[in-house]
Amino acid sequence: MVFDMYQEFILDYYRHPRNFGTLPHPDMISHDVNTSCGDEVTMQVLVKDDRIGNIRFTGKGCAICIASSSMLTEHALGKTLDEVSRFTKDDVLNLISIPISCVRLKCALLGLKVLKLGVYQFLGKKLEVQDEN
Ligand code: FES
Repeated sequence: MVFDMYQEFILDYYRHPRNFGTLPHPDMISHDVNTSCGDEVTMQVLVKDDRIGNIRFTGKGCAICIASSSMLTEHALGKTLDEVSRFTKDDVLNLISIPISCVRLKCALLGLKVLKLGVYQFLGKKLEVQDEN
């Protein structure tokens, strides 16, 4: 019964993903593909005072992939880039709140991989600019 409720929770995020879409002038765009199925996620972030000022995602994937990416955007909003760079697999699994098999782990973590990739690239570019000055 509780498991069904959580499945419904995931399906709701899949059917009505929060923060799905694009931003007009994102500071950060990152993208990756789950090579095992070809599904993909793109994250766009507006950075404000070293925090996630706004965030959107697009992509195609299974319910776990889309729901976890959507939940992650909600979780990341307002956090510092440093905090997001330290998000872990367990943070995502806690957001999903249902047991995930090893096979579905890549689905659940694609959004995290993409978001952290974007943050690392953004922070790396910032360091390069600081080094040049
Ligand atoms: Fe493709 Fe889950 S089956 S991301």
